[in-house]
Amino acid sequence: MKTVVVTGGAGFIGGNFVYHMLEKHPDYKIVCIDCLTYAGNLSTLNTALKNPSFKFCKANICDRGSIYGIFEAERPDIVINFAAESHVDRSIEDPEVFLRTNILGTQVIMDACLKYGASRFHQVSTDEVYGDLPLDRPDLRFTEETPIRTSSPYSASKAAADLLALAYHRTYGLPATISRCGNNYGPYHFPEKLIPLMITNALNDKPLPVYRQGLNVRDWIYVRDHCEAIDLIIHKGRTGEVYNIGGGNEMQNIDIVRRICRELGKPESLISFVTDRKGHDLRYAIDSSKLRKELGWTPRTEFEDGLHRTVRWYLENREWLEGIISGEYLSYCERMYGNR
Ligand code: NAD
Ligand code: DAU
Repeated sequence: MKTVVVTGGAGFIGGNFVYHMLEKHPDYKIVCIDCLTYAGNLSTLNTALKNPSFKFCKANICDRGSIYGIFEAERPDIVINFAAESHVDRSIEDPEVFLRTNILGTQVIMDACLKYGASRFHQVSTDEVYGDLPLDRPDLRFTEETPIRTSSPYSASKAAADLLALAYHRTYGLPATISRCGNNYGPYHFPEKLIPLMITNALNDKPLPVYRQGLNVRDWIYVRDHCEAIDLIIHKGRTGEVYNIGGGNEMQNIDIVRRICRELGKPESLISFVTDRKGHDLRYAIDSSKLRKELGWTPRTEFEDGLHRTVRWYLENREWLEGIISGEYLSYCERMYGNR
């Protein structure tokens, strides 16, 4: 029986990963470490909490004493670090907590892996470390060799953590792997990000704030396809290596918002073009041929189907959403969109 630590498991991708692991590896013990920031929801883990193979530990990854205590007790074999501040707009507003959690927190988790002898540390990173691609060069894609060239405090903090993980691998022999994925969508996605924000606002007949003209392009992947890729990498990936993960679904933001209106039967007149994000990356496109060739991974979910399922999930899980759309969330929306 292996023990797997998942940090950030009360968040969007970490939560989906917890469910993936409980389903695919019923013989593993899954220990989630999360300090429940605004983005972490214990209700995401309601079903997992009933499973005897699952344990939740409330702790901040920057708190060395607490993290060492958990590692001392659990002695994990595999550690996957999802915990992070993840929203680009918030990083532009206030970068400091991004540097603390995303860089120093990652360092604490890696130190714990070395001290307690974990056989694998996996850092969940992002395609945003590569910066952006021009809109008029559809032939270009990010490969693992693309130079790091970050645009936002968020992506700079993620790139710093990647470099630190590679340094820990080389200097201390930490058995580390890194994955860099594109934009995820699916259940349990916090409604500050494009797809769940537009679904939430459309459901409430509120304006749909599209930055500039909505022509920026993202490469979308259904969250469970991302989880499958990480599962493969932690078991079969080579340490010291970076693996790109992409869904192969490039889409302009405006197209996505229009599709959501159609799915929900809402008028496109809700769309409101607002001031652009500072430093807004133009286009992401991921070449994941290394992962396909080396580990045989392939994304299963067509965007059309994944988006349909996601919209249904939000319709059928209004309680989860209602639990979030209160206090801090409302003041965030006012701050971010009030005068835009
Ligand atoms: P999220 O914001 O939904 O969840 C982050 C989770 O981490 C939350 O549960 C939060 O409580 C927890 N957390 C934050 N700071 C913490 C701390 N100091 N200690 C302990 N827990 C803490 O994020 P997400 O979208 O699920 O992203 C997960 C990871 O995947 C991040 O590392 C992100 O950079 C990366 N990533 C995200 C995407 C995407 O499209 N969402 C794409 C590629 C990579
Ligand atoms: O590419 C991976 C990254 O994807 C992850 O590393 C990040 O954690 C994740 O948040 C996401 O970053 P983006 O900035 O691409 O995602 P976001 O959902 O914030 O925005 C997607 C696009 O939609 C982007 O071009 C900005 C635009 N947008 C976003 C919001 C929130 C709008 O037009 N209006 C909005 O209100």
